[in-house]
Amino acid sequence: MKKPIKPVFVVVSALLLISFCSCSLKITSGADNRETSSEASYSTEAPVSGASSGITPTGTSEQGSETAVPSSAPDLSSPVSEPSTTDLSSYGPNVIGFTSKGYKIVNEDGLTYINGVLVVNKTYSVPSSYGPGDLTDECREAFNTLVSAAAEDGLNIFVVSGYRSYSTQEGLYQRYCSRDGQERADTYSARPGHSEHQTGLAIDVNSVSYSFADTAEGQWIAANSYKYGFIVRYGRDKESVTGYAYEPWHIRYVGVAMAQAIYDSGLSLEEYLGISSIYA
Ligand code: DAL
Ligand code: ZN
Repeated sequence: MKKPIKPVFVVVSALLLISFCSCSLKITSGADNRETSSEASYSTEAPVSGASSGITPTGTSEQGSETAVPSSAPDLSSPVSEPSTTDLSSYGPNVIGFTSKGYKIVNEDGLTYINGVLVVNKTYSVPSSYGPGDLTDECREAFNTLVSAAAEDGLNIFVVSGYRSYSTQEGLYQRYCSRDGQERADTYSARPGHSEHQTGLAIDVNSVSYSFADTAEGQWIAANSYKYGFIVRYGRDKESVTGYAYEPWHIRYVGVAMAQAIYDSGLSLEEYLGISSIYA
């Protein structure tokens, strides 16, 4: 025998239906907001007029390369925190994503390579166990050539800090945190595992002081180091993209062709490659 439907049940059901519809609307609206804020978060990396060099993103369609990056390629240039549902293996071994400029992001044994550059910044770290123990041979040879060229101009360029191990960086960073607090230390000192010095490809020259920029050596470094394969890594007014305050003394070896391209572009490494420098 059928039970009669109670009026109270009808009212509750109606209320539940209204509540469900309003909830669905909210979810749709939330998704829209996420898309908008995601785009906004890339605003500092938005393509600035393309790099004016022969070094272009791997496989752009203009080049007709077989590794052309489709427009649907996921942009994982910000910290890669969520697993991608896209099968990236078809783009090559160890490809974990693409930068906002279309470069492949390759991870090999915990090291991140983008357009052939070993990238280390706030977003991309190196394993604590990693370290060549000194400047790499290539970096040292390039630096020696730079030093000789500067000497011919009557200038003296020398290393004040070259390779630093994970533990050395850890000690330095802790010291700065104790002195200035972590928030401030993060503007000028890399957390352990996030310093380019751990790669043996970065050198602090002459004087870790802003006044270095105004010396003859500082001006020579700014104008000429690219010819020897180095970039002044943390440029003036680039803190929002590099993650660090201006460091006229910190040069990074990237090879002559890449250094020339970056120098000509006027961009920081982050802008040039289309990547972020933000701690996860
Ligand atoms: N001063 C730079 C960011 C470093 O600590 O590697
Ligand atoms: Zn440095």
